[in-house]
Amino acid sequence: MPSSAPENNGPATLAVGGETIELAVDRPALGRTMLDVSSLGQHGLAVYDPGYADTAAYQSGITFVDGEAGRLYFRGYPVEQLATSHSFLEVAYLLMYGELPSPQQADDFVAKVRDPGLVLHVGIERLFDTFPQSMHPMAMLSIATEALNAYADDDASLSPVARVERAGIRLLSSVPVFAGYAHSVLRGVPRGRSNRSLDYVEDFLQLCFSVPGHEQLPDEATARALNTLLVLHADHELNCSTATLRMVASSGASFYASASAAINALWGPLHGGANQEVIRMLQEIKDSGKPLSAIVDKAKDKNDPFRLMGFGHRVYKTTDARARVIRQVALDLVEKLAPADPLLEIAMKLEEVALADDYFISRRLYPNVDFYSGIIYRAIGFPDAMFTPLFVLGRSAGWVAHCMEMATGPNRIGRPTQFYTGPTERTVPSRPGV
Ligand code: CMC
Repeated sequence: MPSSAPENNGPATLAVGGETIELAVDRPALGRTMLDVSSLGQHGLAVYDPGYADTAAYQSGITFVDGEAGRLYFRGYPVEQLATSHSFLEVAYLLMYGELPSPQQADDFVAKVRDPGLVLHVGIERLFDTFPQSMHPMAMLSIATEALNAYADDDASLSPVARVERAGIRLLSSVPVFAGYAHSVLRGVPRGRSNRSLDYVEDFLQLCFSVPGHEQLPDEATARALNTLLVLHADHELNCSTATLRMVASSGASFYASASAAINALWGPLHGGANQEVIRMLQEIKDSGKPLSAIVDKAKDKNDPFRLMGFGHRVYKTTDARARVIRQVALDLVEKLAPADPLLEIAMKLEEVALADDYFISRRLYPNVDFYSGIIYRAIGFPDAMFTPLFVLGRSAGWVAHCMEMATGPNRIGRPTQFYTGPTERTVPSRPGV
């Protein structure tokens, strides 16, 4: 694990327009040294940082990404160790409360999340009856999560933390059911029923794949693979959706409203939606029969908006920690469930071609978490549109943890400044007769 930045001897000085400004230097437990620029406004200055790439807007003690080494830690534990040794709900507990649960704590937590008393209100069930088959399931999940504001009997306001905790447990309980129902809408089949006596992941899979009146339990390898994927997706610092969640929550909006906004942010193809786009891209490569070098050239062409989906990351400058585990899970599961999937072979060859190309090497663009995850979801039997909802299933744990952290710390409403480029003051032209 990387050590913190070296001891700094004092404040940084910034010389602007003949003025020298002292900026406090802060050293986080891990990661880059921070310049505290919060006093810049007093000097008529601001920081311009598109995409907030070098701006820390919050302090957080939940997750750390070491982008140079390609490592990811949850509360200090390497994610690849957690992914193969712990259940998703144990990892959710770790994110929320800061420590891994004892066996008793794990049982109590599972009992809370799986409490049959948390069944969905019939009003939310009916919402799914109104959704057209053509609707994207991410929109269904966002609407259903927002609807918890009306149909859940708990107060989901952000303080005190016990309220967020209760609402968070309800979210963890509800999201697999929302995703299972969304899967039914997509397929145009009647909804299944959640069986709370089953394990969290097994129940989700049976909800998706059982036929009415006949509960179909998943095989162990599939449930284990999905558990690993949920753990790997459980949190990832201040990614776009978690930053959105915190931004919305900072205004005092409810936890469910904040989580619903986060789902919408995750939907985008540059974020969680990339897992669906990767499969679309691989399928197009297969259908077109174009050589892989032509696809890579297209991704490099600055006049073409196309990018190699599942490649590149804001923080990772080497292979994404999660992608390494997922690649192996994909190889194992596809061999077992869908040995004839030609997209896996195309993906592996495309990775090879891109990783040997100067454009990708010089920009340090490597496969990210989304490159192989869709191959696994396909092998399990999910349609492409369900891939990003599966990301929601995992990431919900991180969203709960971040809102709990917010509820126990100082909060200042999120309000970035702007770099104004519009007209300066001018007078409205007079209208004849007015
Ligand atoms: N294909 C081709 N070129 C790329 C790609 C790519 N996938 N990703 C980055 N680049 C180029 C980009 O054009 C730029 O080149 P130049 O310096 O010549 O202008 C350079 O690499 C730096 O890229 P950037 O857009 O400044 O990087 P960013 O940090 O703003 O964006 C990203 C990160 C993930 C949005 C981007 O790499 C991308 O669009 N990847 C494809 C979509 C994708 O797979 N998203 C899932 C991310 S992982 C899941 C999650 O956590 O969200």
